[in-house]
Amino acid sequence: MQTQTHAEAAVKDRYSQAARAAEAALCCPVDYDPRYLQVIPPEVLETDYGCGDPSRHLRPGETVLDLGSGTGKICFIAAQVVGPEGKVIGVDMTPDMLDVARRNAPVIGERLGYHNVEFRRGRIQDLALDLDRLDRELGGRPVASAEDFLRLESLTAELSAREPLIAGDSVDVVVSNCVLNLVANGEKRRLFAEIYRVLRRGGRAVISDIVSDEAVPEHLQRDPELWSGCISGALTEDGFLQAFEAAGFHGIRILERQQEPWRTVEGIEFRSLTVEALKGKEGPCWERNQAVVYRGPFKEVLDDDGHLLERGKRYAVCDKTYGIFRQQPYRPFFDFIEPREEIPLQAAQPFDCSRTALRHPRETKGMDYDVTTEAVPCCEPGGNGSC
Ligand SMILES: C[S@@+](CC[C@H](N)C(=O)[O-])C[C@H]1O[C@@H](n2cnc3c(N)ncnc32)[C@H](O)[C@@H]1O
Repeated sequence: MQTQTHAEAAVKDRYSQAARAAEAALCCPVDYDPRYLQVIPPEVLETDYGCGDPSRHLRPGETVLDLGSGTGKICFIAAQVVGPEGKVIGVDMTPDMLDVARRNAPVIGERLGYHNVEFRRGRIQDLALDLDRLDRELGGRPVASAEDFLRLESLTAELSAREPLIAGDSVDVVVSNCVLNLVANGEKRRLFAEIYRVLRRGGRAVISDIVSDEAVPEHLQRDPELWSGCISGALTEDGFLQAFEAAGFHGIRILERQQEPWRTVEGIEFRSLTVEALKGKEGPCWERNQAVVYRGPFKEVLDDDGHLLERGKRYAVCDKTYGIFRQQPYRPFFDFIEPREEIPLQAAQPFDCSRTALRHPRETKGMDYDVTTEAVPCCEPGGNGSC
């Protein structure tokens, strides 16, 4: 396996060169919306090393963070999708990539008539540490002794806490295009935790990356060329989804999956996957007598909070789960049943979300509910004929 230092050095070297001259081996053909490419200068378009297009899943007004922004193409597309009310931040660790992106940002801003993109230097597995800020603080002083090293450690901790590169709970959408695989395997858990930290509650990650259909063996992981070429660091398809789950995300789904592999190495297929994952299932559970019915088509489903819901049955859920299911991507799969008498949130009792419980219709209607209605005259002339 690549050590953290070897993997990162190989990646930085390769992408420093790839910022200065396009490298064909790193390109994976992607159909971007041509409308958004018109304002982007050729030097950015020619150094496109993406494998998907997460910008298709953005909305006007959003604050977007692009991890491993390279020369900035996804940021410059995102800037147009989110519009002047939105904001885009690109983070990359390679100075040559940042130079191209920063040089072109004002040019594109002029063409659009607004400036809503900025680029920051950092490692995406540590989005708290601002590397430009650290450089200024060090002022060129070398770390030449153990004492210097300890001082450096407390300086980085202090800067990360006081002036984080990206603050916690500050971003609507984290996007990334063909970068997560480049982070050393030992750092990947931290990477997903950082994505989770910077997203606000209700925010989402939309990540395009290269994944493999089988685990990548150690001898391929040791090859720096294959590592920096977005091959050896790829997670397996299910491992990629599990990494989001382990970090606390919910509603994780595949938005796009390349049918034909981008590359095959020793029989292992590598292809692009775009995944969406949501933040916001944590928090208190309150009983407001709400119920949901899973409509199918599957016999049963299990959500990321452990609720097992059988098709057609009426389940008691807490106010938080009710709210989550009412939003995309869950909404089309459920019917929602409000109690006849609303329980205000301030008056709600705690709800035990660790179990899945059915909700008797009487709980929703009230024990005293005793109404009898007349038949609705749906078969009368002028009606739609169905009862
Ligand atoms: C394959 S390129 C993709 C660039 C860009 N997303 C695109 O679509 O063209 C990978 C980029 O990620 C950056 N990168 C790789 N590992 C990184 C890390 N750990 N932290 C920050 N940037 C990283 C590289 O410098 C490079 O610019």
